[in-house]
Amino acid sequence: MKKQFCRGQRVTKSVYVGMSADLIHPGHINILKRAAELGEVTVGLLTDKAIASYKRVPFMAWEQRAEVVGNLKGVVRVVPQHTLDYVPNLREYRPDYVVHGDDWQTGVQAKTRQAVIDALAEWGGELVEVAYTQGVSSTQLNKALKEIGTTPDIRRASLRRMLHAKPLVRFLDLHNALSGLIIEKAFIDTPQGRREFDGMWASSLTDSTAKGKPDIEAVDTTGRMNTLNEVLEVTTKPIIYDGDTGGKPEHFVFTVRTLERLGVSAVIIEDKTGLKKNSLFGTDVAQTQESIEAFSDKIRMGKLAQQSEDFMIFARLESLILGKGVDHAMERAEAFLEAGADGIMIHSRQKTPDEVFEFCRRYNKLENRKPLVAVPSSYNQTTEQELEDNGVNIVIYANQLLRSAYPAMLGTAVSILKHARSSECDERMMPIKEILELIPGTK
Ligand code: SPV
Ligand code: MG
Repeated sequence: MKKQFCRGQRVTKSVYVGMSADLIHPGHINILKRAAELGEVTVGLLTDKAIASYKRVPFMAWEQRAEVVGNLKGVVRVVPQHTLDYVPNLREYRPDYVVHGDDWQTGVQAKTRQAVIDALAEWGGELVEVAYTQGVSSTQLNKALKEIGTTPDIRRASLRRMLHAKPLVRFLDLHNALSGLIIEKAFIDTPQGRREFDGMWASSLTDSTAKGKPDIEAVDTTGRMNTLNEVLEVTTKPIIYDGDTGGKPEHFVFTVRTLERLGVSAVIIEDKTGLKKNSLFGTDVAQTQESIEAFSDKIRMGKLAQQSEDFMIFARLESLILGKGVDHAMERAEAFLEAGADGIMIHSRQKTPDEVFEFCRRYNKLENRKPLVAVPSSYNQTTEQELEDNGVNIVIYANQLLRSAYPAMLGTAVSILKHARSSECDERMMPIKEILELIPGTK
């Protein structure tokens, strides 16, 4: 940072404030006020990547957040802070002061704070801590924001932003609004920050099953959109839609536009033709793969129909499912990327990830490589870290929510039949009071 001098005397001190600034509240303003009293304020605005390393990707993109922060009183400049760690930026700008709230003395941020103090000591800088502003909390505001919802544009764009910000994103199956809410809200706290699902997989298998129909495209697009609408109304996370075969190309273009309008981020279509059966049947049932030419045409038509820049069309390869091997899958991956696919999903029903990882090794070398999706339903011993290490960008847990809900319900039904009353299954059920409080606004 350039220091300002006047008649050989340095008059203005430099001040550095790091922030995410997705939701500006009075706490931020307090910090900026104090910072401006001390000198010329540079805000180190955390990038999406830096924020995503410990919590959810922010609602607003860096450029939007920078626009807001740059126009706050007292802020002279905004620079990107690429890591949660302040030190690289501090060494670059060598500020006289860093100003921060005093709420980082304990917990996950305590280490970051100590590193700031140590770095400042290298040139005699000082950490100034401002008393935490009571009554405002980003967590509370974030909760409120989730209740208000999001716009289709912001939701749709969020998947592309996540893919830039994180090496691997995590999706889970939905089949109704309640399952969507679980994906929206479930989290655990870890030493590396909060871990949660990044988004929702609108599975054809679980949607059809929840509607009591087979997974053969018997639930039509209107039926599928009804489920989506329920989910969209009560959640904010991105959705990837399982488009089955995409249907006729002339129909697929309408599906693309509908999904975009709703705020869905991506559709995945599989390279099969004729009566589609679920992939996990593999070669136990007759399934026919579409020709490379015809499927490429469908992708091209979908991409031409798309109205927004951020919607994505993924091509799903069924080669491994049909036992045709990695060479066969690679030929298709290259052709479909060439046709304009925004990414590839590689599916397999092997118990081990070997063939998927062999595909990954070759896929990762492609010059126009795009995001890669994997669905570890059968090779479920494989960890997210192993998937990430092999270059997978999106992991989809495609059916686990529905598969766990159904046995629980069946067990309850059988228990009532067996005991001719409900008291025996009380223990494994949610108390009525809790179910009443589960959904905000019930009272
Ligand atoms: C789905 O979830 O509907 C899928 C994934 O398409 S699979 O069931 O594994 O084919
Ligand atoms: Mg499906």
